[in-house]
Amino acid sequence: MSAVHGNFIGGEWTKVFDAAPNLNPSDLDTPVGDYARGGADDAHAAVAAARAAFPAWSMRSPQDRADVLDRAGTLVLERREALGRLLSSEEGKTLAEGIGEVVRAGHILKFMAGEALRLTGDRIASTRPGVDVEVTREPVGVFALITPWNFPIAIPVWKAAPAIAFGNCVVLKPADATPGCAWALAEILAEAGLPGGVFNLVMGPGRVVGDALVSDPEVDGVSFTGSVATGRAIAAKCAGLGKRVQCEMGGKNPLVVLDDADLDKAVNAALNGAFFSTGQRCTASSRLIVTEGIHDRFVVALSEAMRALRVGHALDPSTQIGPVADQAQFDKDRDYIALAAAEGGRVVGGEVVQSATRGLFLSPALVLDTTPAMRINREEVFGPVAGVIRVRDYDEALAVANDTEFGLSSGICTEGLSKARHFLRHAQAGMVMVNLPTAGVDPHVPFGGRKASSFGPREQGSYAREFYTVVKTGYIG
Ligand code: UN1
Repeated sequence: MSAVHGNFIGGEWTKVFDAAPNLNPSDLDTPVGDYARGGADDAHAAVAAARAAFPAWSMRSPQDRADVLDRAGTLVLERREALGRLLSSEEGKTLAEGIGEVVRAGHILKFMAGEALRLTGDRIASTRPGVDVEVTREPVGVFALITPWNFPIAIPVWKAAPAIAFGNCVVLKPADATPGCAWALAEILAEAGLPGGVFNLVMGPGRVVGDALVSDPEVDGVSFTGSVATGRAIAAKCAGLGKRVQCEMGGKNPLVVLDDADLDKAVNAALNGAFFSTGQRCTASSRLIVTEGIHDRFVVALSEAMRALRVGHALDPSTQIGPVADQAQFDKDRDYIALAAAEGGRVVGGEVVQSATRGLFLSPALVLDTTPAMRINREEVFGPVAGVIRVRDYDEALAVANDTEFGLSSGICTEGLSKARHFLRHAQAGMVMVNLPTAGVDPHVPFGGRKASSFGPREQGSYAREFYTVVKTGYIG
């Protein structure tokens, strides 16, 4: 293995002509390693390799496909410590969170291995006597997968594993800030016996590599997770080119806390949902909507719990909140905290934290006395920052919860069944959580949102087949 990590195209690690350091946000003076910065030529070469591998891979027995993914899952789980350290070093989430994400990736690989064998169709009676109708699902072809930095192994896996399970070939373009886990995944899939060309990795700037992948006529579909602006641009381009597309974009997820909530449960849900993983989850609880009877007690308890969180180096075992992932996000978080104060919010926390290493450490911020109209409550920050909105009652809470362009995840804390049921039915979100944080999802069930949060079919669980297979209706006379 060379010191510089190359791209992986057609089963070969490619020679590196241009590389960039993979920075460690806990310690900016000690990069994780050097990783290739590919260009449009690499993207097109990877697509050609995927296209060449497709005929054989799409006709392989589903058992073979299941076996490879299962072996890859075993390797990922066996290497959870080392992969978790790599993940936490390049992304900044705590080691416990990093290892947790690696385990999630291992479980997804194993679940999707089984899905290769569970693909079923329908047999339907024809209206014409003597004719049978069967509905089957086939692989689509070549997919481009464009992934964000906040889940550097789980998201690449939850896109690549179902694609591969159902007989497709892929090109992964990971986020610039976190190429390490994607590179490790390529190595593991090859070691698990995946034939060359089925999984290709092209690291490099999104504007160059991502654009080249989306435009390449041999790419049949694009799965993207990232910002609304980029997702919409990709979706528009795919529509124009007749490609299938799936985008998971932002969130401004509400967590409603009602007077009858269990205070401890509500505080824990808010603490986890708003601040764990440094708030860098599109499912983060960034708007805490609290009814007036519990508001003051909730705010005092949450502020105390938040103040007690230890912010520091991701690999320090006592750390509970790791650094912000990169400088641009760090600056954005601080700008939003300043804006919230300028808009009239009262900010608790949100301070730059000094540490032994030069890292991007920011204490979690709670913004009190906010209104639903403030920008801090309308725009996604993607950091450890949450606004608190005081409301009169449940009806106002529901209206405020739904008053957003986003609709990914929505939560409520209440001990009352009727309010919980009403909220489950009326929350305008793809996922609704009762007495749980809005973030933190199971690996084997559908994931996705409504409104500006998502576009296209759901990811994960058995629903992943909607995107990664194409339906054929057969008539037999
Ligand atoms: C989770 O909340 O466990 O980018 C997953 C994101 C989401 C994944 C969240 N696509 O934050």
